[in-house]
Amino acid sequence: MAKTRSVYVCSECGAKSPQWLGRCPACGKFGTLVEEIDEAASAPPKKEKRERSAYARRPVPLSQVREERFERISSGIAELDTVLGGGIVPGSLVLIGGDPGIGKSTLLTEVSAHLSRAHKVLYVSAEESCSQVKMRCARLKLDSDNLLLLNETCMEDIEEAIEEEKFVVIDSIQAVYTSALSSAAGSVAQVRECAGKLQRIAKSRGITFFIVGHVTKEGALAGPKVLEHIMDTVLYFEGEREENFKILRAYKNRFGSVQEVGVFEMTGEGIYGVSDYAGIFLSESRGEAAGSCVTPAETGNRCMMVEIQTLTAKTAFGLPRRMPLGVDYNKLALLIAVLEKRCGLPFYNLDVYLNAMGGIRLNEPAVDLAICAALASGHKNRPIDKYTAAFGEVGLTGEVRGVTFAEKRVNECVKMGFKRVLFPAKNFKSVKKFEDKIELVPVQYVGNMLRKLFPPEERADD
Ligand SMILES: Nc1ncnc2c1ncn2[C@@H]1O[C@H](COP(=O)(O)OP(=O)(O)OP(=O)(O)O)[C@@H](O)[C@H]1O
Ligand SMILES: [Mg+2]
Repeated sequence: MAKTRSVYVCSECGAKSPQWLGRCPACGKFGTLVEEIDEAASAPPKKEKRERSAYARRPVPLSQVREERFERISSGIAELDTVLGGGIVPGSLVLIGGDPGIGKSTLLTEVSAHLSRAHKVLYVSAEESCSQVKMRCARLKLDSDNLLLLNETCMEDIEEAIEEEKFVVIDSIQAVYTSALSSAAGSVAQVRECAGKLQRIAKSRGITFFIVGHVTKEGALAGPKVLEHIMDTVLYFEGEREENFKILRAYKNRFGSVQEVGVFEMTGEGIYGVSDYAGIFLSESRGEAAGSCVTPAETGNRCMMVEIQTLTAKTAFGLPRRMPLGVDYNKLALLIAVLEKRCGLPFYNLDVYLNAMGGIRLNEPAVDLAICAALASGHKNRPIDKYTAAFGEVGLTGEVRGVTFAEKRVNECVKMGFKRVLFPAKNFKSVKKFEDKIELVPVQYVGNMLRKLFPPEERADD
């Protein structure tokens, strides 16, 4: 076999260099040179003229292409099957990303143990020793003779170790390396090369790979974007580390919708899919203390009642703090400004802390109204009734804008036994049918909402 050589290629302009340089000599950009295998130097010398092989593929009319039928295999965890689009597709590459310690290895250990009851499964643990994996299996009460463990980081050795396994778990892609490249494991070049290798094995031998991927500080998958292109399915584990509930979200799925989310509960005995998620993002004592409000949040294809809690405290030092958990920092700052300017509620000398219960992340604009309600409730020190919910987008002028899925949200409020819901007046038509089941309070401005939530004598000037 010819010796592989590597070359450093500039990711900006494509210039090649035999050695690593901090600055690309061609385009002048810094830190853009990435190691790659030099195909031209590594491949055996080619014949002068290429002859067309007798087996070369020819274009085929669409009608004559044979349809491949595949049967999805259940992972043993219903929530994961839902996110995957109805089960595991044989021969696919599934990438699971998430913060450190969120439970990626735990989830994949459970899945491999379940799959190993009917198939041969190889768990390649590049980060932990086999005994560590064994300890986790013992804690999760999993045992199987069909589950093979391998503690290996070299890609070529992993490739050789794969025999007739149907499922292979790589934990994690950042810890494996290929000896063809001299750069360190986890570097852009290594991750790209190893992922490419796994893709070739998956597609040629029909093996399903579950690959664990680390995320960067910003929350994106570490490594090149090409890693996500190679994968068939990319899933993200979300949630605060300290909280028990985690959300698994599909970011890309070639075999299903990316609208699905899975809710998991992490316990000492393992990770469980939560199918009955009603009320898990609500606290027992809501409605007793001021500063909290419930909103029907749309996450993936599901609507869940989520409690938003806020706390305001006098600023000890000059600049007031804004500390949101589960909600974007800028959104909180913006809504505070709206309340100050449009409703006359001063926050300039108050620290504001906000928490979406259960560690869920709320990115949609429809949570704005509930955040405003919770903040105003805390500010006025007047609790909001526990059976009152609010949803709607708040604009900079203080207007409440219509949102999507209004019908679904009100339906969820009714299902959960709520008695009153405040929502954008624009959505009134679509939810009118719930009139006899729940008190509908359409609002046009944030000021309106505050007057409706709190008695007139406490009214803030609009
Ligand atoms: N003995 C234990 N009892 C209870 N919970 C445990 C125990 N050991 C680990 N855990 C839980 O499992 C979590 C770690 O899970 P896991 O190792 O699957 O995470 P991970 O996402 O693979 O992390 P990493 O990226 O570091 O590999 C911890 O955050 C902890 O909550
Ligand atoms: Mg792990």
